[in-house]
Amino acid sequence: MRRRPVWHTIPGHMARSNRPTGAVEKRGMFIVLEGIDGSGTTTQARLLVDRLRARGRRAHLTREPSDGPIGVLIRQILTGRVVSRSGEGRCDPVDGATVALLFAADRLDHLRAEVEPALEAGVDVVSDRYVISSLAYQALDNDVDWVRSINSRARVADLTLFLDVPAAVALERRRATRNLEERFESLSAQERVEQSYRALISEEAGLGCLVRLDGTTSSSDVADSIWREVSELLPETE
Ligand code: TYD
Repeated sequence: MRRRPVWHTIPGHMARSNRPTGAVEKRGMFIVLEGIDGSGTTTQARLLVDRLRARGRRAHLTREPSDGPIGVLIRQILTGRVVSRSGEGRCDPVDGATVALLFAADRLDHLRAEVEPALEAGVDVVSDRYVISSLAYQALDNDVDWVRSINSRARVADLTLFLDVPAAVALERRRATRNLEERFESLSAQERVEQSYRALISEEAGLGCLVRLDGTTSSSDVADSIWREVSELLPETE
C-alpha cells in the first residue's frame, strides 16, 4: 500500500461533480525522476512515458526548469547568458537566493499551467526533476530549511525515483555528450549535490514516496527497474 497514490486510497476523490454521466475520472499519477547532472533523468523520463503509453495510459513528459517563462529565464541564468549587474557596473552571476526563488516560482507556474491540468484530466505526468532538485542543488548556497519553506506550496509527487550515479561517473558521461559546463556542474559541486540527495533519501521528511535506484547499469536495465516501481502504482485491473 505504501506506493498507492492518493486516488487509490480515497475513492471518488477526483470525481468531477459536473459530469453529466456521473462517471468518475481518476487523476493521473505524478512521477518524478531525480539525480545529479548526467544521471540519466532525461533519457529515463522519456522511456517511462513511452512505456506508460504502450500500456495504454495517457502520459505527458515535462521537466524543470520548465518551458514556461520563468523556466526559460532560469536556463539563461544557468548558462550565463543572463547575469546580474552590480553597483559598480560589473556583471555577476545571479545570486543563489534569487535563483532558488526563481526555481520555486517556476515550479508553482509549471504546476498551475501544465502539471495540474494534465493530472486532473487523468493524464500521467512524468517530470524530469522537481522539488528535491531544489533541496539538493539550492542547498549548495542557501539554508535548506529556507529552500524547503519556499517550496512548501508545491504538491508532493506520487512517486520520486532517484537515479543514483556517482558524481565522477556522471561527469564522464557528460563529457562524452557535451562540453559546455553550466552552473552547479563542476565535479566538486556535483559531489556535494550527490551527498545532499543521499541525505534527503534517508530522511524522507515530507517528500512523499522516494525510491533510490542504481543508475549505473545499462539504460534498459534502469528503465526496467523504474517500471517495476511504477507498476506498483497501476490499478490491478490494467
Ligand atoms: P537539467 O535537467 O540538467 O537540464 P539540461 O540537461 O537541459 O541542462 O537541469 C538544469 C540544471 O538545473 C541542473 O544542473 C539542475 C538544476 N536545477 C536546480 O538547481 N534546481 C532545481 O530546482 C531544478 C529543477 C534544477
